[in-house]
Amino acid sequence: MLSLENVSKKFGETVAIHPLSLEFVEGSTTALLGPSGCGKSTLLRIIMGLIPSDSGSVRLNEISLSNSTKLEFRRRMGYMIQDGGLFPHLTIRQNVVLTANYLNWSPKEIDRRFAELAELTDLPESSFDRFPNEISGGQRQRVALMRALFLDPSVILLDEPMGALDPLIRSDLQNELRKIFAALNKTVIVVTHDIAEAGFLASTIVLLKQGQVAQIGGLQDLNSDPREPFVRDFINAQRSPLDSLEAHS
Ligand SMILES: Nc1ncnc2c1ncn2[C@@H]1O[C@H](COP(=O)(O)OP(=O)(O)OP(=O)(O)O)[C@@H](O)[C@H]1O
Ligand SMILES: [Mg+2]
Repeated sequence: MLSLENVSKKFGETVAIHPLSLEFVEGSTTALLGPSGCGKSTLLRIIMGLIPSDSGSVRLNEISLSNSTKLEFRRRMGYMIQDGGLFPHLTIRQNVVLTANYLNWSPKEIDRRFAELAELTDLPESSFDRFPNEISGGQRQRVALMRALFLDPSVILLDEPMGALDPLIRSDLQNELRKIFAALNKTVIVVTHDIAEAGFLASTIVLLKQGQVAQIGGLQDLNSDPREPFVRDFINAQRSPLDSLEAHS
């Protein structure tokens, strides 16, 4: 179980996160949803121990996040940063196996894990020795995902894993992600702007508004029982073009 208690964060005068408490149930997928600048990435960075919170605590099972447990924490988590963050001068394979190399895994073990993840994410073999700018955007996202999964972390943090992909590839990758999450039975936190994607991938949605929790629940709950006008407005703003056709006819 991963939990945050009264975690807050300011950058100068900007309040990125107001004190908030959240629990992420082991083996479940949670979507962090909300408008640009509402604090989604900041929250993931705090959980990863990449930036310190100003108050409160983060716990993963028996470990409480602190300077001395930071590395242990990170080792149990796989993090896919917004935009993938692949190193342009390293090949796909080198990008994916970077941390395992650093941790002195044997070449045999590295090869085995790489093959397993390439199959899981459906990454074509022809891309393994290319550089990130020589593969498609959708493939880059898969590579970033492989890298996040490599050490078999118990918690997976994905910051907009679908980025700016075209709708068809996006829908492909959403299907695969859902399968992967179900197969791995990990605790997953996935950041997205897109409410349909949040509902498709996650059983629980945490909708944030300016660093505060606006509502927590399933897609149905948010839709049928919005707790404040912001929730309804956020959902309505994302109605599909076909819905609005209907509304206008
Ligand atoms: N290192 C930083 N220094 C100063 N301000 C920051 C820093 N990082 C984030 N912020 C501010 O904190 C707020 C939350 O930023 P954050 O990146 O968490 O938003 P987000 O929800 O991930 O947005 P997006 O959907 O656009 O990625 C924003 O107002 C942002 O400008
Ligand atoms: Mg962000």
